[in-house]
Amino acid sequence: MKTRPLHPKFGLIVEDVDLREVTADQLYPEIRAAFETHSALLFPAQALDDASHIALARLFGPLENREAMAANDADMEFIVPAVSNETETGVADAASLHTLDLQANMLWHTDSTFLPVPALVNILTAKVVPPEGGETELASTRAAWAEMPAALKDSLRDAVIWHRLSHSRSKISAELGAQIKMTRWPDRPWRAVWPNPVTGEEALYIASHSFAIQGLGHEKAGALTDDAIAFCTQDRFVYSHAWSPGDVLIWDERAVLHRGRPWDYTKPRTLKSICCSVTEADGLAAMRIV
Ligand code: OGA
Ligand code: MN
Repeated sequence: MKTRPLHPKFGLIVEDVDLREVTADQLYPEIRAAFETHSALLFPAQALDDASHIALARLFGPLENREAMAANDADMEFIVPAVSNETETGVADAASLHTLDLQANMLWHTDSTFLPVPALVNILTAKVVPPEGGETELASTRAAWAEMPAALKDSLRDAVIWHRLSHSRSKISAELGAQIKMTRWPDRPWRAVWPNPVTGEEALYIASHSFAIQGLGHEKAGALTDDAIAFCTQDRFVYSHAWSPGDVLIWDERAVLHRGRPWDYTKPRTLKSICCSVTEADGLAAMRIV
């Protein structure tokens, strides 16, 4: 693969691959190795439709189907999730719960930390982009962890962090946080440091969904969570992607925080996102509490 760095500390831009041609034997092994090593991959100007998006995602792991997970029905049809303000009746109103939910993605987060099985990867591709704004930003919690001052690092190394989707949604709007879609997942604990099972490198595993730290009072836990996320999301650890239609951004949820950026909400913006769930091979056992 022909690659160049995405950011001085992490990520690669892959220039000569058509993602529709990737199969388990052809290109996937190289892509997967680069994913483990570099945490983020950008494939500019691709042409993924839903079918080729799904085919690519299946190579990384089981497709994350939240409706199936919530219903405990593995056979439920998978629909590629849209991250979009376009609705059947036009662009969503800026004050609607729909837009507020998109705005909750603008808090630094890791996807799916609140699910019974968290995500390994998000494969995100742009369909419709606004003329300005609407970037997606990635922060390497692997690079940040490696540079974190000892005092902060020591207080996080053995921590157990609890995650709740309604926690991040409530920061934006109490009404949004109270929706059944947000409250339906039981609180979920994970260890704070995810060792990559292939490279051995550690990364901080934290999110906007993090609402408590085992053994710490509410205020201390909140301050530690805020300090940790603030450290990891300093400019020097952040890549900001200004989308062109077709771009595909793939990141390792075990080692990257991300957020969306605002845009003019009267303008349509549509991305399609498939997350794959982690499997034991991705190092999940090291993250479980029991
Ligand atoms: C996501 C996400 C942010 C954005 O797809 O998980 O957080 O830029 N997207 O829309
Ligand atoms: Mn997200």
